[in-house]
Amino acid sequence: MPNSNLTEAQRAKNDEFYTQYPDIEKEISAYLDFNPDVFRGKTVLLPCDDPEWSNFTKYFAQNFERFGLKKLISTSYAVESKKYKSGYQPTLFETRASYYDEVKTVQNGKIFSLTHDKTGDHKVNVDDLEWHYLAGDGDFRSPEIKKLRDESDIIITNPPFSLFREFLTWIIESGKQFIVIGSLNAITYKEIFPLIKNDKIWLGNGFHAGNAYFSTPFARDYGDGVYNPETGLVKFRNVCWFTNLDHGRRHQPLPLMTMADNLKYSKHKEIKGKQSYDRYDNYNAIEVPFTDSIPSDFDGVMGVPISFLDKYSPDQFEILGITDRIDNSGVKIKEYTEQDMSNYGDLNRRGVIKIGDEYKPTYARLLIRKRTI
Ligand SMILES: C[S@@+](CC[C@H](N)C(=O)[O-])C[C@H]1O[C@@H](n2cnc3c(N)ncnc32)[C@H](O)[C@@H]1O
Repeated sequence: MPNSNLTEAQRAKNDEFYTQYPDIEKEISAYLDFNPDVFRGKTVLLPCDDPEWSNFTKYFAQNFERFGLKKLISTSYAVESKKYKSGYQPTLFETRASYYDEVKTVQNGKIFSLTHDKTGDHKVNVDDLEWHYLAGDGDFRSPEIKKLRDESDIIITNPPFSLFREFLTWIIESGKQFIVIGSLNAITYKEIFPLIKNDKIWLGNGFHAGNAYFSTPFARDYGDGVYNPETGLVKFRNVCWFTNLDHGRRHQPLPLMTMADNLKYSKHKEIKGKQSYDRYDNYNAIEVPFTDSIPSDFDGVMGVPISFLDKYSPDQFEILGITDRIDNSGVKIKEYTEQDMSNYGDLNRRGVIKIGDEYKPTYARLLIRKRTI
């Protein structure tokens, strides 16, 4: 099989990862702890879902009354439109309905909605969900789903990984509130970084220790995720929640040591015992290779790993830029020539440390500065 096909197959499979109930519960609890009325009177849309068995739909339907929701809507993508389709069987729930349609079951998306007690048991929960086929295939980009987006207040999902950039743009242009799962690397995208920098969007509460485990119908290894045959789960690093809803962790300052203490006691050999932190050759900033090595008493600009965002409190730091993209941080002091870069790749996209006559480019760095009150 040529390589391009292999990549395409991997990419197709990468869209079918399903979120576990405890991960949803833990994340949503963070917003409720901060504001118990965050969902009260709101219409919540769960697009790119598979409502018959999605944990998002289950979780929000079960908590409909507790959250005080006005309406829950969840939509799925047609089987025939998915990049990877294998062994599809409609559920009993669907085939038992009088309007079950064997063509629509594969060609159309579905919509589930919940507003009131349909069963008459004086509770509004998962048993009261009503469903029908969508007119189209449920593509989030279709006018049909856009209309649902525009009618909703909060959009929550784990969207297809392969369309993440497009999906986030689709949400941002709607101006709605949202909580969605994506790769941390997305923060370097030119459409996304300015929103992070300007505190229009930020990371959510997060997955435990930065590892996310999703269930998947495909028992195999993935290029960027590791499949465990015993649990049936695929593990990804660097997966996070993106949101524009506030939560408590954003307002907890990161506990840090002074620069002198870091140089003396740091657990990182790259810091401990040095005379000083490295300075970049091309930025008026110091290189801080680990988030827990940020000195508490340094007032200048620091380059930190992008995983810092997981610990970022806008009350404690401001973000000035990122070394990976078009730089408008105001602290870049040098551009390298083609000749400078001949042995190093694109140094102009990196923070660079000069050692003698050699250049040492770092990974992508966020440029941050302590906030002065
Ligand atoms: C990462 S999965 C997550 C599913 C579910 N939201 C969850 O978290 O369990 C993303 C889903 O979006 C579907 N999808 C792919 N492309 C889509 C599109 N253009 N519009 C809507 N859904 C799409 C995929 O088939 C897949 O089922």
